[in-house]
Amino acid sequence: MPKKRIIKKRKKVSVKKKVGRPKKAKTKKKKVGRPKKKKVGRPRKKTVKTKTNKKRKGRKTLKKQKIEEGKFKIKPEAQILRGMSDIVGEDIDYWQYTFKKMINLSERYGFNQIIVPVVEKQFLFEKSTGSTSDVVEKQMYSFKDRAGHNVVLRPEFTPSIGRAYIERGLFNLPQPIKLYYFGPLFRYERPQAGRSRQFHQFGLEIIGSDKPLIDAQLILFSQTLFSQLGIKASIQINSLGCEECRENYRSRLVQYFKFKKRWMCNDCKKRLAKNPLRVLDCNKNSCRKFIHQAPQLVDYLCDDCQKHFVKTLECLDEIGVVYEFNPYLVRGLDYYTQTVFEFWPIRAKKEKLKTQHTRAWQAYGLSSQTALGGGGRYDNLIKGIGGRLTPATGLSYGIERIIDELKKEEIKIIKPRPPQIFFAHVGEKASRHALKLFNKLQNERFKIAANFAKDSLRAQMELAHKRGVKITLILGQQEALDNTIIIRNMNTGNQEVVDQEKLVKELRKRL
Ligand code: HAM
Repeated sequence: MPKKRIIKKRKKVSVKKKVGRPKKAKTKKKKVGRPKKKKVGRPRKKTVKTKTNKKRKGRKTLKKQKIEEGKFKIKPEAQILRGMSDIVGEDIDYWQYTFKKMINLSERYGFNQIIVPVVEKQFLFEKSTGSTSDVVEKQMYSFKDRAGHNVVLRPEFTPSIGRAYIERGLFNLPQPIKLYYFGPLFRYERPQAGRSRQFHQFGLEIIGSDKPLIDAQLILFSQTLFSQLGIKASIQINSLGCEECRENYRSRLVQYFKFKKRWMCNDCKKRLAKNPLRVLDCNKNSCRKFIHQAPQLVDYLCDDCQKHFVKTLECLDEIGVVYEFNPYLVRGLDYYTQTVFEFWPIRAKKEKLKTQHTRAWQAYGLSSQTALGGGGRYDNLIKGIGGRLTPATGLSYGIERIIDELKKEEIKIIKPRPPQIFFAHVGEKASRHALKLFNKLQNERFKIAANFAKDSLRAQMELAHKRGVKITLILGQQEALDNTIIIRNMNTGNQEVVDQEKLVKELRKRL
């Protein structure tokens, strides 16, 4: 059969000629001007490869690397929100140290942990924290959920603890109930040093007792905690009395500020109409100069509130707690009754002395700006949200501010013990066996470092050196087959092969 010749047809490609003005041939324009002077001077040396040159080259590659890294910048839409932060690396040591101290002390004082939701109904805070407080009025992260409920990211814990006390029937248990808690809170404030939009608190609440001794106990707890952390803090204390005492004081305060109003800040002008006590919390110079001469709430306390306050102070004196009576301490939340207190870092107080109106700052400072924590009695909160009349008292510490204080004052913290053993492996089969053995040693409570992503023994040994471990365990193919393992003493370099069955015993002997 004659083979058919397959002839591929060529596609016709039509080339359209561009119509238009013919392009001018590019001619380099000659620059007109003064002719360039030839540089006169020492002739340039030829670069010879030296150690310093090599270093320079190294620097160049580093620069290049940085530019390369710059290419992988996070997209602006994915960046962290303003006023929020990640806690990583060395900071974690500070967090763990602080929380450990707080939890240990709370449990020794007989407090039990409580965990409450991050999202709550808006009404809860309007009713307890107070609709005229800055927190509720200006700072809440509020939104409607999918069911159309008005909800908020919790701006504080105390109302949630009060709610849980009623909803979980904690009033049926022997009173008082002692609870501790910690976690993130959200307040939409202008971010600045010591003030962020997401921050963390550790707090205590004692619900079901009206005894002054209980207030004193919380303050004593704080003194002990600060001394354990190594932080110097001054305890500021005042009494806000009951609703009746405050009613009398309020009208006296409005009268006092009446003729000073026009020199005061706009916020305080509004506060005078809505909630005059909040004026005492203002930290603007224009207002503070009047505040330190204002009438004092202690002079308006009813008999019961006066007795309660005197007993609290007497108790503090007797147990040796050093405090400063601060007649203008009001706290920013509406639920407080009788005793209120705050903890101010001593160092920050010294800084404030340099500012204007020294006497006022010296005595009362910028409490709300720098306070490490604060609290007080809130006898009406639980009734206000539907429970029976239940006296209660509590406090919270700002974790970020306490950690800042530890860092600023260069207080040494106890870091978690680093691992003393490194587990190295060679070969694929050995690596699986190593993973199993690694897990066994973890269960035996040995603290071990390893890097299963690296195959080269050299790279793993470098890591072991960097970590500064005492012992490196090496598992190769042969050891995996023989059920043995190499124990290398990193100080002497001595190596020993031991049976895997005896490994735990051998390690305990060496550590
Ligand atoms: P607070 O004074 O609003 O009280 O907050 C307590 C502490 O939390 C402050 O002293 C401060 O250390 C820290 N803090 C407050 N806002 C911020 C922020 N934006 N950024 C960083 N830290 C902040 C309460 O929250 C009450 N619930 C305390 C309480 C408990 N009263 C009775 N029981």
